[in-house]
Amino acid sequence: MTKLRELYRCNICGNVVEITHEGAPALVCCNQPMEKLKAKTEDAGEEKHVPVVEEVDDGIKVKVGTVKHPMEEKHYIKFIEVLTKEKVHRVELKPGQVPEANFCIPKSDLIEVREFCTIHGLWKNK
Ligand SMILES: [Fe+2]
Repeated sequence: MTKLRELYRCNICGNVVEITHEGAPALVCCNQPMEKLKAKTEDAGEEKHVPVVEEVDDGIKVKVGTVKHPMEEKHYIKFIEVLTKEKVHRVELKPGQVPEANFCIPKSDLIEVREFCTIHGLWKNK
């Protein structure tokens, strides 16, 4: 059963979807069940994926990794999301951009910060 804000990926075509209306028994893409993405919280070795949150003047800055993550054609951070009680805030990124984003949200409102790497999947802060 799907739940609000879960992310699913099709392992055939790479389609990624986010649940905005929960309760479906399953999601199917390319005639196969989609994989529910489980966010990882620790890299082995250098932290290249776990989002790091910094407070800035008008809210927060989220950087992906304490070591900057690659932003290459096939391996890059596709989006960064900040979840609060009321909203999901998402910044979409492209190869060549810096893997970070600013959000006008007080740090105290954060429930979770997560990001999606095209190769290594979903990651969140602890
Ligand atoms: Fe990666």
